[in-house]
Amino acid sequence: MGDVLWFNGRFTTTDERVVGVEDRGFQFGDAVYEVYKFAARRPILLLDHFRRLERGLREVEIASPWSEAAFASMSHELLRQTLFDDGIVYVQVTRGEMERAHFYPDAMKPTALAYSRRFKFPDAAKKERGIRIITAVDQRWHRCDVKSVNLLANALAKKKAMRAGAEEALLLSEGTVREGATSTFFAVREGRVITHPLDEHILPGVVRDRVIKLALTARIRVDERPLRERELFDMNEAFITSTTQGVMPVTEIDGRAIGNSRRGEITTRLQRMFDELESAKG
Ligand code: PDD
Repeated sequence: MGDVLWFNGRFTTTDERVVGVEDRGFQFGDAVYEVYKFAARRPILLLDHFRRLERGLREVEIASPWSEAAFASMSHELLRQTLFDDGIVYVQVTRGEMERAHFYPDAMKPTALAYSRRFKFPDAAKKERGIRIITAVDQRWHRCDVKSVNLLANALAKKKAMRAGAEEALLLSEGTVREGATSTFFAVREGRVITHPLDEHILPGVVRDRVIKLALTARIRVDERPLRERELFDMNEAFITSTTQGVMPVTEIDGRAIGNSRRGEITTRLQRMFDELESAKG
């Protein structure tokens, strides 16, 4: 049996083929998505994800199918019908379906869907061990702040990482470190945390925002500035953040050790703080 699926206002399962061949999400990547986590059937940081979804839809002029309250109640019912306690919810809103043409009319009825899925979150050993990553050229478009489904460049970079025996690709452009193919990148040098500022080059990560706030409460200094590629190997620690990985240490980039190849001290503190925040919010 498939997973529980909410599709345009009704519940079904992912076994049902619901999206038409002329849906603009399918043909043009004309769509915005979200991924949020749930634990013990309770969504984590749901409002942050909803706000980012709404902003993305506004930026590309797709009508939002949900009010904040409607989104929360859809999510609640989805998780009530789900047969497992922990996992992720994938949400997508496309501009809708029409006879294929680049041009689209102003008023279109969006296609909206959400489904829950099991997910293997990293365990304690993995969170301590961390991951190896590689660098790759950032071949994405110029609106990476919108979580659009145009993920071909991200998927190609991720495949390159996997072929190299790594778990993430760090995307570089104009001599600058942007973010991971599916995560935000942070570096630590001399006790200070550095991450790319919010602009069109990166996604405003939900975990990024929380980790910055946690660092500030712990009186750890945060520099939101672009990191130059040549600074990368001068760092004492590095980590990535995302909804599915939380705070994940990076021990090696392109085969070169970061710090002493072990989870760093500041990374460990932020990882613990974020895990606590998640369980409190979960
Ligand atoms: N990806 N940057 C990119 C390009 C991402 O795809 C993601 C998340 C992030 C981290 O954002 P957040 O902290 O809000 O999860 C940064 C999700 C998990 C995905 O595509 O599956």
